[in-house]
Amino acid sequence: MRILGIESSCDDSAVAYLEVKRGKVARLEYVVASQVIHEKYGGVVPEVAAREHSAKIPPILDALAEKVIGKPDGRAFGEIVDAVAATAGPGLVTSLRVGLDTGRALAAAWDKDFYAINHIEGHIYSNWLPGEKGKAKLDESSDIFPAIALVVSGGHTELLLMKGHGQYKLLGATADDAAGEAFDKSAKLMGLGYPGGPAISNLAKGGDPSAYDFPRPLLNSDDLRFSFSGLKTAVRYFLRDNEDRFDEKKFLPDVAASTEQAIVDVLVAKAVSAAKKNGVRTVLLAGGVAANPKLRATLAAELKKHVPKVRFVEPELVHCTDNAGMIAMAAYHQSQLRKPDDWRKIEADPLWELGR
Ligand code: KG4
Ligand code: ZN
Repeated sequence: MRILGIESSCDDSAVAYLEVKRGKVARLEYVVASQVIHEKYGGVVPEVAAREHSAKIPPILDALAEKVIGKPDGRAFGEIVDAVAATAGPGLVTSLRVGLDTGRALAAAWDKDFYAINHIEGHIYSNWLPGEKGKAKLDESSDIFPAIALVVSGGHTELLLMKGHGQYKLLGATADDAAGEAFDKSAKLMGLGYPGGPAISNLAKGGDPSAYDFPRPLLNSDDLRFSFSGLKTAVRYFLRDNEDRFDEKKFLPDVAASTEQAIVDVLVAKAVSAAKKNGVRTVLLAGGVAANPKLRATLAAELKKHVPKVRFVEPELVHCTDNAGMIAMAAYHQSQLRKPDDWRKIEADPLWELGR
């Protein structure tokens, strides 16, 4: 099956071509255009993001066709595609509409199947995508269920139980800020750029994670809920009270490392607890924050310690942040479970929740 995937739920415009043969990835090509324009605002401006998607999706579709068939020819590209998949939610409604409407229009013009895909489900299926070299860690025949998915991104912090492909039960989510937001907002307070996650994790490499004891909200709450806004507030007051120390060589690296440690401690404790409580076979990590090296290493080590039989799977670094390969992969699995969607009837759903 050959799928064109389109993703535009936030500030990354992305398209991908995925070919699956006998349950395995035979080819994956993708193009992502990140919107640097939001850097100057320190966060995503919805109206600006939508306009950028409109400007960027046509050229990246051409670039993708060039990669796949050697020429930027939409008609010829349509001939080799079996289905079109686009993100329908959750996300910014104005952003979602651009990619979704492009996908619907192409499915109609090419007379192909259409799949509306949930962005969070897409992140989970990034674990089935191969890296630049080599094979994917998972394929259709992998025996991984039941599984826990920890999805951590700029907009989401969710623990989901998966009993099979496409079957989700939400076990816990954040009551306020997402983990990625905690990184982004703390980075902004430290005067680092956007997105803040990579900036903090780079700076943290030169710092001491135990230098400052920032709060770990709900760490011992005995449930799987998260809350990160208190951590951001603690970082804000700490920085305000230590303004004169910004020039000290170790100050910001120590703050970055301590902030990162607080976020990672909470995520890891809850994921391990979810794995234990549900007796799962696998833990899947997903979302932009899954690129964080401290989170990857700590989660792997703690799972090994507390639930040694559980298999830990993390996405290739290139597929952690928003991309369309993950949308095409989720669509492939949906296509094995259900009929295609009617492109005439699909609407963007900014609050589409998985597993509730
Ligand atoms: O999944 P994603 O691309 O977009 C959303 O669906 O939200 O995630 C973006 C988020 C941002 O908050 C960014 O700061 C965070 O992922 N992120 C990281 C790292 N790389 C990206 N957070 C921590 N450490 C990283 N290395
Ligand atoms: Zn995302």
